[in-house]
Amino acid sequence: MPELEEAVRLRQEAEGTKNGAFVTVSLAHAPVLAELHRRCFEVAAEGAEAVPGEVWGGSAWRSILAMPGAQGEILLEDGVPIGFYMILVAVDGAEILALGMLPAFRRRKLGRCLLRRLVAACIRLRVLKITLEVAADNGPAVALYTANGFKTLGRRREYYRRGDGSSVDALLLGRSVMPDC
Ligand SMILES: CC(C)(COP(=O)(O)OP(=O)(O)OC[C@H]1O[C@@H](n2cnc3c(N)ncnc32)[C@H](O)[C@@H]1OP(=O)(O)O)[C@@H](O)C(=O)NCCC(=O)NCCS
Repeated sequence: MPELEEAVRLRQEAEGTKNGAFVTVSLAHAPVLAELHRRCFEVAAEGAEAVPGEVWGGSAWRSILAMPGAQGEILLEDGVPIGFYMILVAVDGAEILALGMLPAFRRRKLGRCLLRRLVAACIRLRVLKITLEVAADNGPAVALYTANGFKTLGRRREYYRRGDGSSVDALLLGRSVMPDC
């Protein structure tokens, strides 16, 4: 059964990665996450992803990290943070709050690695559904998610505002996750 095989593979992946070291986020990582988020999304905002509302600074990240169900990991290369993901786990599923790789480290399959770690974490947590919102014109992110089992569930018209006053739709993407039995 392909889903079962995937669940086994994801569990194995969760136990280690060839691509670097992962650190589980804690409240102390708020400044690191603020910096990673800014650097991952500021370049993207020029042509792809728009960050809804304000930039997530240190205090926004402290609020996120203090939420029950907030979980994430930071990917290090040679001890330096180069990528991250953050999810919010609730009774009805997990929401991906953000996932990003620094521009210099993209197209090395590390974003995929982050996403697979995220899915593996959801399997461990017995989450049944993962959802996220992404700008409809964020080609790299949409390609990453759809290549990893996410489907379009809906669209929010003109959800993200761009710096130039224009707006872009958000896609609601989601996938189910095999329960860990
Ligand atoms: C989206 C993002 C995380 C992808 O990270 P990455 O490390 O470059 O992605 P990977 O190298 O692991 O690519 C995995 C797959 O994603 C897709 N992909 C990634 N970048 C792409 C690009 N520029 N164009 C088209 N497809 C792309 C492809 O399907 C790719 O598989 P392939 O290499 O076999 O073609 C990265 O571009 C990023 O951080 N963007 C800014 C933040 C953001 O938009 N986050 C997502 C919203 S939360």
